Amino acid sequence: MPAEVRAWRKAQGSLALVPTMGFLHEGHLELMREGVRRAGTCAATIFVNPTQFGPNEDLSRYPRDFEGDLKKCASAGVSAVYAPEPSVVYPPGYQSYVTVDEVSQGLDGASRPGHFRGVATVVTKLLALFRPEVALFGEKDFQQLQVIKALAKDLELGVEIVGRATVREADGLAMSSRNKYLQGAERQRALSLSLGLRRAQAAAAHEKDCEKLKGLIRAELVKGDAREDYVAIVDAQTLKPLPKLDGRPARALVAAFVGTTRLIDNVEI
Ligand code: PAJ
Repeated sequence: MPAEVRAWRKAQGSLALVPTMGFLHEGHLELMREGVRRAGTCAATIFVNPTQFGPNEDLSRYPRDFEGDLKKCASAGVSAVYAPEPSVVYPPGYQSYVTVDEVSQGLDGASRPGHFRGVATVVTKLLALFRPEVALFGEKDFQQLQVIKALAKDLELGVEIVGRATVREADGLAMSSRNKYLQGAERQRALSLSLGLRRAQAAAAHEKDCEKLKGLIRAELVKGDAREDYVAIVDAQTLKPLPKLDGRPARALVAAFVGTTRLIDNVEI
């Protein structure tokens, strides 16, 4: 793969990379189209990365549609798709991991121990393998985006990390491969996350107390019978909790279970 990519890069010039776990939707495809716009050539990866799943998470049942994904990548203008087997990425004797300290703590880092270590490791490997000029990630996974920005800067990988806005369904639900798990009425109940975030966002025009704003999000989760994992309002750069909105860029984030499906969403606030 590295040899292939080096030869290919010589011919093509500047390169964009979009790492994914597959079961692609418009959110992924937007990143790919933007990659083509920014670099001319865009590669994608499809790899359900075992090291970022906890022992009781959905690794074995994560949705897959490899043939459909290849067609979608082609339609988005992607030139190459790398979809390695886990034993290629993590061969016997594999023992090197990347950890990003501060922004990995709290939020998903607290709920999913080891998750960001797995993400940081696989993303670092993919960036080392492809050496793209630009790599694109979604704000849907806001903490993940900050973790990846930190590792690219700290390890001086020489890649521009671009974050792109969350792509949503017409009714506001953030697109996610995991939405496929939602059964029947759960699809409607899942709207409580985006609804709560929008309510808090609107209220932030006059209400600056973050406990009160979080209360608005929680009220929607209760109405939708979604079980809160966390509701947080944080400094958008450090991801540290904010007691009050003070004009600095801030982000409201939520993680909740609808039935057995864990969903996340966030907005600028
Ligand atoms: P995955 O969940 O497949 O997402 C791949 C990329 O698509 C991530 O950058 C994610 O933030 C982005 N994305 C997902 N849903 C989106 C939406 N509705 N709008 C915009 N972008 C969206 O995130 C991962 O895979 C993995 O952790 C990965 C980075 C590939 C490492 O294994």
